[in-house]
Formats: sequence, C-alpha cells, structure tokens
Amino acid sequence: MWSRERWRLLLRLVVAAAAAVIRGLASAPAEAAPLEIGFYRGTCPRAEETVLEEMKLILMEDKTLAPSLLRMHYHDCFVQGCDGSIMLKSRKKKAERDALPNRSMRGYDAIERIKARLETLCPRTVSCADIIALAARDAVFLSHGPRYDVETGRRDGNVSVAEYAENDLAPPDSNIVDVKTFFSVKSLNSKDIAVLFGSYFLSLQPTLMACFLSSPPHILVAFPSRCHSIGTSHCAPIQKRLYNFTGNMDQDPSLDPAYAAKLKKLCPPPRPGDDDGSEGKTTKVPMDPGSGFTFDLSYYRHVLATGGLFQSDGSLLNDPVTRGYVEKVANASSPDEYYHDFAEAMVKMGRTDVLYGDQGEIRPTCGVFVD
Ligand code: HEM
Repeated sequence: MWSRERWRLLLRLVVAAAAAVIRGLASAPAEAAPLEIGFYRGTCPRAEETVLEEMKLILMEDKTLAPSLLRMHYHDCFVQGCDGSIMLKSRKKKAERDALPNRSMRGYDAIERIKARLETLCPRTVSCADIIALAARDAVFLSHGPRYDVETGRRDGNVSVAEYAENDLAPPDSNIVDVKTFFSVKSLNSKDIAVLFGSYFLSLQPTLMACFLSSPPHILVAFPSRCHSIGTSHCAPIQKRLYNFTGNMDQDPSLDPAYAAKLKKLCPPPRPGDDDGSEGKTTKVPMDPGSGFTFDLSYYRHVLATGGLFQSDGSLLNDPVTRGYVEKVANASSPDEYYHDFAEAMVKMGRTDVLYGDQGEIRPTCGVFVD
C-alpha cells in the first residue's frame, strides 16, 4: 500500500515531466545546447578571469560558500533550465528562492558581487546563469577539486516560480527509482547521478579531514568545535530516516547502525510541539564525515560503508549501474577517472534547457523582483 507521501511524490514527478516537455519546446535540448567554451572571448575577454579572482576573495572570506555555490548551479539548472532564475526575487515570497528546497541555499550575495564586478567591466554582457556555472566550477577548483572548461553563452530567464523548484528537485527521501526519474527528465543518466552525487566530496576539506582522521573509520564521533565542515546539511532532511522511516517510529534499515547512532546524537528526534521542525532547520551535520581516505573519493567510500547521509545517497546502492560506479570509485587508487567523469557530468548538467541567442535577457542585476 502506498503512503500519501509516495503518491504526492509521484504527482510531483508527473508534473516535473510534463513541465519539462512544455519548457523543452521553448529552449535547447541538453544534447544540442548551443554553448561554447570561451563565449565571452570577444565581448568580455576578462570575464572568466574576473569570476575566478572574485571567487578567491569570496572563499577567503567564507570557504563554506564553495559547496553552496556548487549546489546553486544544480538547483538553477534543474528548475526551468540553467537560466539564473534561482536569483530572482518575489515580494510575495513565490519565487524559486522561497521554495522549501532553496530555503537553506546560500551564496546569492556572492553571485551578485561577481555580477557587479562584471557589470563595471562589460555592462549587460555576462549572464547570471553563466556566472553561476563559472562560480560552481571555481568553487570546485579552489577546493582542491578538478578544473574543467565551462561552456558559456546562456541567457537569463525572467520567470521564477517556487512551485517549479518544489516539483523539479528530488527530495532527500527519494529512492533510486525516483532519483532516476527526476534526473532522466533532465537528460541525465544513472552514471551522471552517481558522479554528481560525489559533489559532496566538497564537504570534506583538508582541515576537516584532519579533524576526522582521529575518528574511527567511517564513523562521525561528533562535530568537534575546532572542525569546520564546508558542506553541511541541516538535521531536518534526515530526521525521518533516523526516527520514522516507514511511519512506525523506525530507522532506515539500510543505514549503518553505528553511523545512525552518531547521527542521532547530533540530530535528536523532533520534539513534540516542534511541528515545523525548526530545531532540524538549525542544527547542522557534515555531509560526509570522512574516513581517513583521500578527501575527494571519500564520499563513495562513505556511502558504501554506511548507506550515506540521505536516503537518496544510500539509494545509489540499489541500482546496478550506480552501485557499480560507487564501488569502482570507492576502490580507485587515483581520483583522475572520477575527476574526468565529474567534469563531463557538470558540463552535461550545465546544458540543461538553456536559453541562448535572442532568448531571455542579460540584466544588470541578477536578483531583481518578479512581482
Ligand atoms: C536526489 C538529488 C539530491 C538531493 C535529494 C539533495 C539533497 C540535499 C540536501 C537535503 C542538502 C542539505 C541542505 C541543508 O539542509 O542545508 C544538500 C546539500 C548539498 N547538495 Fe544536494 N541533493 C541532491 C543532488 C545534488 C547534486 C546533483 C549536487 C551537485 C551537482 C548537489 C550538491 C550539494 C552540495 C554541494 C550540498 C552542500 C551545500 C552546503 O554545504 O551549503 N546535490 N543536498
């Protein structure tokens, strides 16, 4: 018997698929996106260099923004395509920013700051969607990840609707069938899913790794005060998995019991009366507690050993292709192949339903009000 929540999720998937078909008619399909590397070489030759310079300053001030900006590119691309619409604001609180999955999103000011510098350099030339894509690339690079070429030439949309974000972004309690459906609607396959989920490698920086090296393998002992995770999640997305997985006050059986016990110490059950889960929205846990292995591949070792933080992470183990990929990367002796796959998957995601040519607009500020 399906729960009401599963029916609701199915409905979201149907809405997401229908919306993608309709929107797909008005924008470029992922395979044929007319983007190019170095699109601004004639119109704003210092654009990419400027983004990198500004990103260095931004991350020097707050390195926790690196994973947030990578996540922003994913949330932008999955909702009406990579069109910068995540930056738009609504006075009525009805824009993408106001949607539940985006309430924990950070980095809007960073994008606006980069945009302001580019506007001084080359007014009305570089789109917000491209700035988000370049900032995500530089966030990865400046966090000791790979540096890849980013295709540019996207233009910005001027529509932003909270409901689209709620329908198009998979919730953290998604199983592998749900995840595959959400991603296939965006022309991303099982391998892309497994690769992109590894973005959580950004959550384990060398400083953080040093903190956890002293911890027993695969186990998060606590969130030591001297440690700063740059990739975090609030407790809310995992409370159901820890305390009420099937509605019978149970724990997800696929979650490693020792890891679950540690998570429970950090994330107590929602208290009676805390109906809006406000506690779960303030407490934070690292996305990837690390294991003493190479920082960049540790996400896969972590998922394999513990079932991951979110149900959607653990779901990678329930499909032959995604499981095969997790096992391959977890056992790899070098990150090179993963880095290559990561670059490929990011470029592919960056082509999702883009606006180009005379579609959309290039506005002087990214975060303008839509109402
Ligand atoms: C089924 C797909 C996915 C689900 C359900 C999911 C869910 C989540 C959730 C619940 C958080 C924590 C938010 C919070 O409470 O603060 C998060 C954080 C994050 N997500 Fe995802 N995500 C998915 C896919 C992706 C993809 C494809 C990427 C990158 C391409 C990504 C990158 C990140 C990063 C880097 C963070 C850390 C953000 C920060 O520290 O500010 N996620 N995700």
